[in-house]
Amino acid sequence: MAISDADLVIAWKQVLEMCRVRDGEQIAILTSDDSNPQIVRTCRIAIAQLGGILTMINLPPINGEKALSRDKSGYVGKTPLAFNTAALAGLMAADMIIDTMQLLFSKEQEDILKTGTRILLAVEPPEVMMRMLPTAEGKTRVLNAEKVMSAARVMTVTSDAGTDFTCGLGQYPVLTQYGLADEPGRWDHWPSCFVARWPDEGSSNGTIVIDAGDILLPFKMYAREKVILTIKDGIVTDIDGGFTAEYMLRFMESFNDPDAFAMAHVGWGLEPRAHWTTLGLYDREAGLSMDSRSFAGNFLFSTGPNTEAGGDRDTPCHLDIPLRGCSLSLDGEPMTVNGKVVRADQQ
Ligand SMILES: [Fe+2]
Repeated sequence: MAISDADLVIAWKQVLEMCRVRDGEQIAILTSDDSNPQIVRTCRIAIAQLGGILTMINLPPINGEKALSRDKSGYVGKTPLAFNTAALAGLMAADMIIDTMQLLFSKEQEDILKTGTRILLAVEPPEVMMRMLPTAEGKTRVLNAEKVMSAARVMTVTSDAGTDFTCGLGQYPVLTQYGLADEPGRWDHWPSCFVARWPDEGSSNGTIVIDAGDILLPFKMYAREKVILTIKDGIVTDIDGGFTAEYMLRFMESFNDPDAFAMAHVGWGLEPRAHWTTLGLYDREAGLSMDSRSFAGNFLFSTGPNTEAGGDRDTPCHLDIPLRGCSLSLDGEPMTVNGKVVRADQQ
């Protein structure tokens, strides 16, 4: 169902207030040709009502001929900001940016955040944003998970499907996503609710089995049958199975970049309002499918870049793969068992 402008303005006001937008703050909305016009126009109104001083920065898209689809997550290479020093200076001067273009995975995003500017990404369909309006409870769940993740040094993941994976933790910071950019220098994405971390370089080892029905992003498809990944010292060295495995392998190979096979963030979903089933209801280019990344109890692992964690592996090939039915432990303490969050303070 469509969302009315009035409802989205009210939601924006609530989210921006939770992001601590104050009267007189410099707020920039970053747009490109594929920004959702309803998200942009309703956000403008909410910023005005809160007394924010608004700047619109519109950048023409680049890399359309290199990207393999219109999907914002299908090609995470350079953004238009990489070559636009005027826009970069403007965005760095803002207190907060509403990003409807998608700067994620760019060096420029990290540079902007270092100046204390906070960034809220808003690129999902409005009805998904409304269904998963960020809440204080969601934030608490994510911060409780962060506490355990920060102290942990080893993650282990097993499943009945055959996953038996381990990695070291500590080299990179914990990534928290609860849908609010409410601290200086914080990036977040409305809607999202999960915790993740990049494994220590070279420490990931074992087998990850994608079972039939598990989700592969950015393809936005459910696996048709098992895919068996072998991981050695931080690199996916083998992808075995049927059609789904071959599709995944050929996609990754098409980037001609060995960094595409590196392990990236690992973590688990914490959002009961997100659903494994939702992906089946949407056209592929309608959104990023944050439901798939956030549904409670998933084991979300990924491959490719680590720039978001402060590393220098800047490959444009990034896969996010949420698995069901996994048991994830940190230093031997269970966080999920058979795909269910087990700690009361994360439920
Ligand atoms: Fe990711």
